[in-house]
Amino acid sequence: MEDKRANLIAISIIILLIIVTIIARVTLHLSKTFFLIFGVDIAAIFAVLAIVILRSRFNTRRKLLEKQIDTDGRELRIEYSFLRKVAGVPTKFRVRELEEATDGFRSLLGRGGSGSVFKGILPDGTAVAVKRIEGEERGEKAFKSEAAAIASVQHVNLVRLLGYCISSTGPRFLVYDYVHNGSLDNWIFPKTGGGATSGRRRSGCLSWDMRCRVAHDVAKALSYLHHDCRSCILHLDVKPENILIDDSYRALVTDFGLSKLKGREESRVVTTIRGTRGYLAPEWLLENGVSEKCDVYSYGMVLLEIIGGRRNIRVLEKGSRVSNRKFEFFPKIVIEKLKEGKVMDIIDDRLVEGGGIKEREVKKMVKVALWCIQEKSKLRPSMARVVEMLEGRAPIEEPPDTQMLVVDFLSVDDEDDNSMPHRHRPRFAQMDRENPSISGYSFAFSTLSGR
Ligand SMILES: Nc1ncnc2c1ncn2[C@@H]1O[C@H](COP(=O)(O)OP(=O)(O)OP(=O)(O)O)[C@@H](O)[C@H]1O
Ligand SMILES: [Mg+2]
Repeated sequence: MEDKRANLIAISIIILLIIVTIIARVTLHLSKTFFLIFGVDIAAIFAVLAIVILRSRFNTRRKLLEKQIDTDGRELRIEYSFLRKVAGVPTKFRVRELEEATDGFRSLLGRGGSGSVFKGILPDGTAVAVKRIEGEERGEKAFKSEAAAIASVQHVNLVRLLGYCISSTGPRFLVYDYVHNGSLDNWIFPKTGGGATSGRRRSGCLSWDMRCRVAHDVAKALSYLHHDCRSCILHLDVKPENILIDDSYRALVTDFGLSKLKGREESRVVTTIRGTRGYLAPEWLLENGVSEKCDVYSYGMVLLEIIGGRRNIRVLEKGSRVSNRKFEFFPKIVIEKLKEGKVMDIIDDRLVEGGGIKEREVKKMVKVALWCIQEKSKLRPSMARVVEMLEGRAPIEEPPDTQMLVVDFLSVDDEDDNSMPHRHRPRFAQMDRENPSISGYSFAFSTLSGR
């Protein structure tokens, strides 16, 4: 704007000088005075042109420099945010930044027991999943320090926590790396109806080899959390929804919002019950405190679901009361089929059609899973041992019979059906340990919250 005005003034001066010269020529003819005026005018015109040229050159240079500084600044900011990510330092976001990144929380990826997850893009181009946590009760300091501890945990099979957001009044947020292929449930269970998500969910049927790889990836991630971090981290909500599948079908464990840090010297953590029905170890109900063996149990349950391509619990008969309902418990079926030597019967039907699955491999996976879901936590292997078993570095003995008398899925929501649609309410309130009525594959007691 300023440039335009200066150029206009220069042109006006030049035109004025030319007019003066013409008038002088007409009135003074070719007199001495005219030549004097003519000389001065020409000099003035050259001076104005020189100023205009110099000014425009100077301005172009200045703009180039400004652009360069701007680009350098942006690159520095990107570099800085990259270094923060690599170093595991969580970024503190403002609510407005997250609103902009998610376009006003428009693209819903999914809804869980603790809140909703939205897709977003940060200004540096990073795709993120923003988890809005409702009803977070921890104080600001505790939330912040847990976020920092979680962000500092880095492993190829763990989803990275990039940052968090705390507003004084509204909900809190956790910002994770966006994982393109969504959660494992969409890749092992047959599709049932539509969900409440706005974005199109990626789904399919993982091949046997891919499933073995996912099982291995998850085992490595949990082993890392339990054994290789400075303080032992218990996940406490291992389930297919908390296992994400990336572009190259690698499994990434997520949702450390629920996890609990445990000092190395502590053998058990006493905490309020957390987790999801169907994956909870019995000691949640029976003992005072939990250990990493709870994650081993949940892992075993997930492993069976990966093999079978179905949920571990199915409602066979609906009753008006929980106690009247009949459930089919997949792990029991697996144990029986293994005893009968018909282990191939339990594999996901969609995989059997394709053929090429070795019985030896299936047996290995099933036995590992059955070791993990032993009711007595002491009998369960550590996650490090599970990794060794899966890799063939440790022998896998016949798993002992486990009674599975205490099963945690005993309250099933009214809306549950055979396909166990996903309404997640993992936090739960109260339990009633009395009168467990157990018959065959049917179990009923307690009022745990549903999935
Ligand atoms: N980082 C991510 N990238 C892509 N999708 C994600 C990511 N995190 C979560 N999701 C999707 O959002 C869904 C909801 O996640 P959320 O953690 O809120 O619920 P949940 O895992 O089902 O239950 P819970 O609250 O017990 O963890 C997941 O099932 C998954 O499909
Ligand atoms: Mg989750």
